[in-house]
Amino acid sequence: MLERRELLISMAVVAVVTTSGCSPLAADAAAQAPVRGTPGSAGVGDSIFPGAGNGGYDVAHYALDLTVEPKSRAALSGTSTITAKATQNLSRFNLDLSRLTVERVEVDGTTAKFSRKGNELTITPSNPIAKGAKFATVITYHGTPKVLPGLIGGSQDGWIKTDDGAFVMGEPLGAMTWHPVNNTVHDPATYDVAVTVPAGLTGVSNGRYVGKESADFGRNTFRWSNRTQTIPYAATLAVGKFTLETGKTKAGVPIVNAVDPRHHASSRKALEEIPAIIAWGEKLFGPYPVDSAGAIIDHAPKIGAALETIGRPVYGKTPTSTVMAHEYAHQWFGNSVRFSDWSQIWLNEGFATYAMWMWDEERGRATTQEWFDGVYRVPAEDKFWAPVPGKPATGKELFGDPVYYRGAMVLHKVRQAVGDKVFSKILKAWTAEHRNRTAVIEQFISLTEKMSGKPTRKIFDVWLFGKGKPKKP
Ligand code: ARG
Ligand code: ZN
Repeated sequence: MLERRELLISMAVVAVVTTSGCSPLAADAAAQAPVRGTPGSAGVGDSIFPGAGNGGYDVAHYALDLTVEPKSRAALSGTSTITAKATQNLSRFNLDLSRLTVERVEVDGTTAKFSRKGNELTITPSNPIAKGAKFATVITYHGTPKVLPGLIGGSQDGWIKTDDGAFVMGEPLGAMTWHPVNNTVHDPATYDVAVTVPAGLTGVSNGRYVGKESADFGRNTFRWSNRTQTIPYAATLAVGKFTLETGKTKAGVPIVNAVDPRHHASSRKALEEIPAIIAWGEKLFGPYPVDSAGAIIDHAPKIGAALETIGRPVYGKTPTSTVMAHEYAHQWFGNSVRFSDWSQIWLNEGFATYAMWMWDEERGRATTQEWFDGVYRVPAEDKFWAPVPGKPATGKELFGDPVYYRGAMVLHKVRQAVGDKVFSKILKAWTAEHRNRTAVIEQFISLTEKMSGKPTRKIFDVWLFGKGKPKKP
């Protein structure tokens, strides 16, 4: 078959409850009685990763102040200040964190008790937090981060070491390898990342580049400010030898590319395409949903994957503009419109893969039909046709060929059924209706029926949820 395996994305202040309308004395007593809280949940009940994420609060912002010393035993150290709002009266709450050592936790300036179990960090503030109260948690931690083993088969999930530093690919759960986090798509937040690194190295993250300052011992601190609501897996940190190159998209959004010098020459062509890819995406999918753009091109020859880290996707080698179009499409499909459960990953990968076929078509390379035909040529006996792309059952199936390539075929069939014009209207309506929100596949199916007036559901039954190779292309 076509070299799909290669193509595959080488591929508060403790607030106090006062009762109004009762006697001043009673109100006084209420004011003194601490809130009685219950523990926030230790997971959000995802069908594939039930323990990921936590309940009882809603994060607004992560302010990370980190030092990365690639050669030291504690490669990462620093503090995370998490601003959040309690969504229940909270006696204690959890964050997700893999391996790293927590030294100290403060909630609203007061030392809090904490404990660790597996990937759960449980924090018990000295007083319960009232529902609706905003509170700040400061966690001081250090350690040597490691990728998460085995969740998604061959791919590396989390902090990936390189010969001169590291970078993070946090999807699905690797965000918890570098900072304590509410590790779920249901709790996006903004990020400020300050990263201090040894002389000669550069620290990169998402959002706008605020600048560089010198720090102690000849180190430098690089500051990044990301004001777009970001799900934890779409935040990244990269440290290594990089040159920072700046520019602007056609609409004036700042571009910052961080390029490993070994990839300087080979990456020119793809990097120059960024403004064109974004402008093309805006025409097809609607306004670009992120306040920054760019790419992080690192040197990790063994890493086949790329990740759509917000505004600034991360690559382990020079990407083609085809792969870049895939990662940019994720800014709409994945980072802005988010699935509500990992089993609905098709809403990300099916769309980003089809977008990349459309980009190739736009550029006069393979047409979408040629891409489709190439995939359809995979023999019916091939295990490619076994998993159902619309409902992967395990972490290992999430980033498999069926979700990507059969996932893209579905959209090709829908586009053929409704025509190019309506198809583009559907995509724009989808990104507008669910911008910065979660969505489910069923909503997309009904949208296609509503906007086209055609019985498109049949297409999804066969191509997205059907078992085996469809009889007719
Ligand atoms: N969403 C990514 C892509 O399609 C794949 C991420 C796989 N995860 C990983 N840790 N390698 O482009
Ligand atoms: Zn993808």
